[in-house]
Amino acid sequence: MTVLAFETSCDETSAAVVQEGRVCSNIVSSQVNIHAEYGGVVPELATREHLRNLMPVARAALQEAAVSSGQLDAVAGTQGPGLPSALMVGLKAAQAVAFALRKPFVPVHHHEAHLYSPWIGGEPPAADFNAFRPNVSLIVSGGHTMLVHVQAERQHRVLGSTMDDAAGECFDKVAKLIGLPYPGGPALDRLATEGNPKAFDFPRPMLNEPGDDFSFSGLKTSVRYFLRDHPDLLDDGRRLRDLCASVQAAIVDVLVGKTIQAAKRCGVSYVTASGGVTCNSRLRRELAAACAAAGLTLRLAEPRFCTDNAAMVGVLAERKLLAGGTSTELDAEIKPSWALA
Ligand code: KG4
Ligand code: ZN
Repeated sequence: MTVLAFETSCDETSAAVVQEGRVCSNIVSSQVNIHAEYGGVVPELATREHLRNLMPVARAALQEAAVSSGQLDAVAGTQGPGLPSALMVGLKAAQAVAFALRKPFVPVHHHEAHLYSPWIGGEPPAADFNAFRPNVSLIVSGGHTMLVHVQAERQHRVLGSTMDDAAGECFDKVAKLIGLPYPGGPALDRLATEGNPKAFDFPRPMLNEPGDDFSFSGLKTSVRYFLRDHPDLLDDGRRLRDLCASVQAAIVDVLVGKTIQAAKRCGVSYVTASGGVTCNSRLRRELAAACAAAGLTLRLAEPRFCTDNAAMVGVLAERKLLAGGTSTELDAEIKPSWALA
């Protein structure tokens, strides 16, 4: 089976070709430079860029995969959650392509697609889609932070999620406070590698509380007050790196601690992680160490599949089709606030 997938839930315009669980192409056009001057994603600009880029990105995905439109068996698109107008562009374009080709259209939940990204590529490659389950999955990005108990393929339950800011939002807002351009998560990660994570003691919100919810807005606020009381720190390169390392350690401690706690309580043997923040070097290292210490097997998404991409949408769409859903859902509408059931 060959699927062309589209993803436009936020500020990445992406198209991918997936064939029998293998990613033949995954083109991602990032809008980061456009939104950087505003310090965050501007929905109207994101929508305009999706409109401009979607068809060239789709053509590039087909070309790289050496697949013609006539060879496609289905078309998929992200239905939600995400920015309404951004979702609308991708979903309607995908449905139009499916309609023109007279092929099934498969609407996909963005978070459920993230659950599949650890299966894409990876070393060693996942033997099959039933490996690594049941598991506890961490999905952590600029828009979401959640823990999901995945009992079997397409059977999952959200254990907890953030009550305010997402972890990536916390990275980005702290980065902004110290003058790094949006999105500052990756730059903060780079500065932190040369800093001392024990230099400053920031709170680890919710870490020692029962339950699987997160909260990161208080941590961001405590960094703001800290900088208000130590304004000279911004001009001191070494202490600035220590600050980055200390904030990063606080965020990572919470993400790792809550994930291990949930995995133990659910009695699973596997943990997976995906979403943009899973690119973070300390999170990857600390989660691996904590899982090893707890006797859990960890499956991390490759960095290129951690951030938003159409490959994960195509992989899930193909699994849905193989499970028997071949009806053409051309009447599907966007679901901007669609919670993962
Ligand atoms: O999954 P993603 O591309 O988009 C959504 O937010 O849905 O994730 C982007 C987020 C941003 O907040 C970005 O700063 C963060 O992931 N991020 C990182 C790193 N790389 C990306 N945060 C910390 N360290 C990184 N290395
Ligand atoms: Zn995402």
